[in-house]
Amino acid sequence: MSRSHPAPSPLASRPGSPLRGRVRVPGDKSISHRAMIFGLLSRGETSIGNLLESEDVVNTAKAVEALGARVTREGEGRWRVIGAGIGGLAQPADVLDFGNAGTGSRLMMGVAGSHPITTTFDGDESLRSRPMRRILDPLVQMGTQVVSEAPGGRVPLTLRGPRETIPITYETPAPSAQIKSAVLLAGLNSPGITTVIERQATRDHTERMLSHFGATLTVEESGAGRRIALQGQPDLRGADVLVPADPSSAAFPLVAALVTPGSEIIIENVMMNPLRTGLITTLLEMGAAIEFLDERDIGGETVADIRASYGPLVGVEVPPERAPSMIDEYPVLAVAAAFATGPTVMRGLEELRVKECDRLAAVADGLAVNGVRTEVIGDDLTVHGCGGPVPGGGLVATHLDHRIAMAFLVMGLAAKEGVTADDATMIATSFPSFAPLMRAIGGELA
Ligand code: S3P
Repeated sequence: MSRSHPAPSPLASRPGSPLRGRVRVPGDKSISHRAMIFGLLSRGETSIGNLLESEDVVNTAKAVEALGARVTREGEGRWRVIGAGIGGLAQPADVLDFGNAGTGSRLMMGVAGSHPITTTFDGDESLRSRPMRRILDPLVQMGTQVVSEAPGGRVPLTLRGPRETIPITYETPAPSAQIKSAVLLAGLNSPGITTVIERQATRDHTERMLSHFGATLTVEESGAGRRIALQGQPDLRGADVLVPADPSSAAFPLVAALVTPGSEIIIENVMMNPLRTGLITTLLEMGAAIEFLDERDIGGETVADIRASYGPLVGVEVPPERAPSMIDEYPVLAVAAAFATGPTVMRGLEELRVKECDRLAAVADGLAVNGVRTEVIGDDLTVHGCGGPVPGGGLVATHLDHRIAMAFLVMGLAAKEGVTADDATMIATSFPSFAPLMRAIGGELA
């Protein structure tokens, strides 16, 4: 039996008034997971502000506690972690249940699998279907023992780590920040230098946080990609982390405003890290009315307030090399593309097949049941835009995937007929305030 799951609860959206107002989406999920994990691996106190308090991050916080940190919630988004330190992790008393969270589970495999403890990882039906060999392969090279695993290298699986890891040089087989981060985190408990080479740059939050907490690393960019070399066994010290708003969550009200006639909204404090802004680049190419107000620095990341207004969009071709900087945004980009004039072609989407569900199939099916023509050829998706409101009226199968649910609920706000997501419970994994926030700017969701 798979672990922890609420009963499905459908949610529908329908067209109504224009969207207007100022909103603030929650803290970035990638940074929130990492802030907890670095809190565990440091000595002393880590103080986190604007942490994303979603199911995925709470599961990481529980795992951090089970591995020996003291974790306290001090107020809304304000958390304190007293770390166990590298080499100081405790043997967890129970299975670590990561629910729906790929990032939490995979990064923690690097952490727990690099220490002399025995740890069992599990999660929900979605997590149980996701490939973990991509994490286990480098960890085994570093000395981790895979005590047991579900068929095909999946959770539930149990790892036993060495006293200290063997330093390796590892070229990631896919552009994945999760693989890169798991190897670097395991390299923290190594007496030597762990090197990760990635052919395409992926989100760099782990590298930034390693420096922020006191590790020594070098990052070299060359034609062959990025080479990150980390000196093992640093003395990580607790630090303050202020989490900026998540661009992957901002994407939903942003696209909603672009496709809903008469809308104009401002989304505050959105992280503008260039390895996360591929969606904005693409929307600007499509002719979207997006402006950046008051660009400033928060905790080492550039943030801006984003003004987005309704207007016509045109179809574009999205090159495969842009995928890592917008990997979680394709579902909502496909929704924007459905309202555009002409086809939008998105190339090189193979990694979408191993997300919370096969997102390539789920997006194509969701568009089809709402009257939008699509083609999937290999790993490329073409959406034939309707040049205005899409027909809508469909019931979308969300397959335990929060972003499929939110993307199609955005579609329903501007479709001729509303759209129903068969289950909205998973939205709580990344953006628990999604429905109230969309209602606050005028969206009709019920
Ligand atoms: C994440 C990396 C991405 C992304 C996920 C968050 C991270 O996954 O899809 O939502 O925080 O490192 P991959 O690294 O597998 O592409």
